Parts: sequence; structure tokens; C-alpha cells
Amino acid sequence: MRKVIFATSNEGKMKEIREILEGLDIELLSMKDIGLNPDIEENGKTFEDNAIIKARTVMELTNELVLADDSGLEVDYMDKAPGVYSARFMGEETSYHIKNQYIIDQLAEASEEERSARFVCAIACAFPNGEVITRRATIEGFIAKQIVGTNGFGYDPIFYVPEYGCTTAQMASEIKNVISHRGKALQAIKDVIADYL
Ligand code: IMP
Repeated sequence: MRKVIFATSNEGKMKEIREILEGLDIELLSMKDIGLNPDIEENGKTFEDNAIIKARTVMELTNELVLADDSGLEVDYMDKAPGVYSARFMGEETSYHIKNQYIIDQLAEASEEERSARFVCAIACAFPNGEVITRRATIEGFIAKQIVGTNGFGYDPIFYVPEYGCTTAQMASEIKNVISHRGKALQAIKDVIADYL
């Protein structure tokens, strides 16, 4: 069975990734599974750049097929911030309650349409022959006026999805996994891997 490494040590992400990639004839391994923990500087300007940096670094260390993702929130009214800096925005140690309230405050004067935002996810697939393929997916929504919901993580409590009439922090994970940026990007990369096997 072909080994595929996903360059993350986040167990929550790994669970979601395993669920979505189920059915492929692969042995899916996390960084923890292979005992690697390289310090990779995510200094790219785009989500794709960062995903490629991670996937390529781990592929060069292992010579296996490696996947890596990078994601974040783009708020149009804030010139697409926090974008690739989503995790580092206002400092890694700052709570998401504070980050989320800050974004809501920044949009105090914004009209309904100006509250548009999206989660973006890019996934890179680095093959042992040096080839790299990326897939990007997004979920469109609006910045809520209040922090609502306790599911999910990060910016979920302020990301309102009009089709569902709630924030992604009010959604069951089974629904979010299907409609989310990461869920859709993983589905797309699943097709790339299936073609390769
Ligand atoms: P990374 O792709 O793990 O580096 O995630 C970057 C950051 O983007 C996370 O730390 C969150 O702040 C934000 N983010 C990415 N995806 C989501 C999501 O599905 N919900 C909420 N926040 C997210």
C-alpha cells in the first residue's frame, strides 16, 4: 500500500483528513506517525506558497508522497487580512475571543455587503519525482455582528454562512467538513492522488 504523509501534527485536522480521504488505497501518516517535527518557516505570500514549502520540505526528508495545507480567513473590508497571517494575527498567544471581537469592531461602519469574507484552503501534493500540484477551495460568507457558536475553532464563531443561516461554529462538524474550504480542497486533492495511484 502506498504511503502518503500529511505534513501536520494537528490531530484534529488529521481526523478530518482521514475521514475525507477514506476509500483511497493508501497508508495515511501524520508527522507524529513518522516521528518528524521539522521547524518549517511559513514565509510564503500566498496560501499555495506555504502549502508547497511544507509539502516539499517533508517530501525531501522522506522521499514519499507528501500533502500539506495552508488556510486562513480573508476579510474584504480589511484588505483580505488576516489572510496567510490568520494564525499569527495579533500574536499567536492572543485568544480567538479577542481576535474575533477585534474583527467585529473593525467592521463597525461596514454595510451588509461590505461584510463579505471567505475561508481559503490550499493543499499541495509533492511527489517524490519533484512535481508539485496544488488545489484551492473557498467557502464564502459574511462577518457576523456578534461572536456566536462553540463548535469548530479559530474564526468559526464570526463566520456567518447565509445558506445555512448560522456561523460555522454553530454547524455540526459533518456538515462543515463537506462545505468547508478544507473539505472541498481535500476532495479535489483526493482526485489527484487517485489518478496517481
Ligand atoms: P493553518 O492552515 O492550520 O495554518 O490555519 C491557519 C489559521 O486560519 C488557523 O489557525 C485559524 O486561525 C484560521 N482557520 C483556518 N481554517 C479555519 C476554519 O475552518 N475555521 C476557523 N478558523 C480557521
